[in-house]
Amino acid sequence: MKKFVFENYNALSVYAAQYIVNEINSKPDYVLGLPTGGTPVGMYDEIEHMYKKGMVDFSDVKTFNLDEYLGLNKKHEQSYYYFMNKNLYSRVNVKPENTHIPNGMADDFAVEALNYDKQIKEAGGIDLMVLGLGPNGHIGFNEPDSELIAPTHVVSLTQETIKANARFFSSENDVPQKAITMGVGSILKSKKILILVSGESKKEAAAQMMSNKITTQNPSTLLQLHPDVTVLIDKAADSE
Ligand code: GLP
Repeated sequence: MKKFVFENYNALSVYAAQYIVNEINSKPDYVLGLPTGGTPVGMYDEIEHMYKKGMVDFSDVKTFNLDEYLGLNKKHEQSYYYFMNKNLYSRVNVKPENTHIPNGMADDFAVEALNYDKQIKEAGGIDLMVLGLGPNGHIGFNEPDSELIAPTHVVSLTQETIKANARFFSSENDVPQKAITMGVGSILKSKKILILVSGESKKEAAAQMMSNKITTQNPSTLLQLHPDVTVLIDKAADSE
């Protein structure tokens, strides 16, 4: 794991955007895995700036998002589709048919999950998976548990995650209890991984992630098994 520590969130966001733009420029038909949440918002803003300056072209880029809440349609302001449209798709020239998010309104989630991993495989696999980190160590919506599921699947959110994400909804009761997420196996198959960690609330989870111990009770610790992980962390989240 390579670690880069930043003075603040803004510096981290700018570096993350530059990293992604450089990657896309090295391979125009890049396959990008993308996160939602509060952390990547600054990165998406910076990607828009760079796009407006003509520094990057998304016309052949394919994107695959990590996860989606169950039961929220695309027009729901807290759906991850809505988030992605607002923060990235509507701001750059990515083709709608090249963007992918698990469907939280699918009739059959087993089929949806199988198809999602199949689509990733058919695209040639993910070149770079960008991740955020849950305060409890979750990646995507892979929550701490005694066992983890490798492929894309439906998951019940922990109370801790529902609480953490309630800030985006009118109340805790409005947060969906379930989500569909890439599994840890789908994530670890990516060629490269970039994880963004910001803020005091991530300190403990991040320290475990970068320790030499692996536990399903902190899914991010599994990233230690991957040969090409870059951690971008701000001082508030870093323990050293
Ligand atoms: C959310 C998402 C994750 C995200 C994490 C951290 O629940 N499912 O993909 O990385 O929680 O979110 P934030 O960046 O808002 O702290």
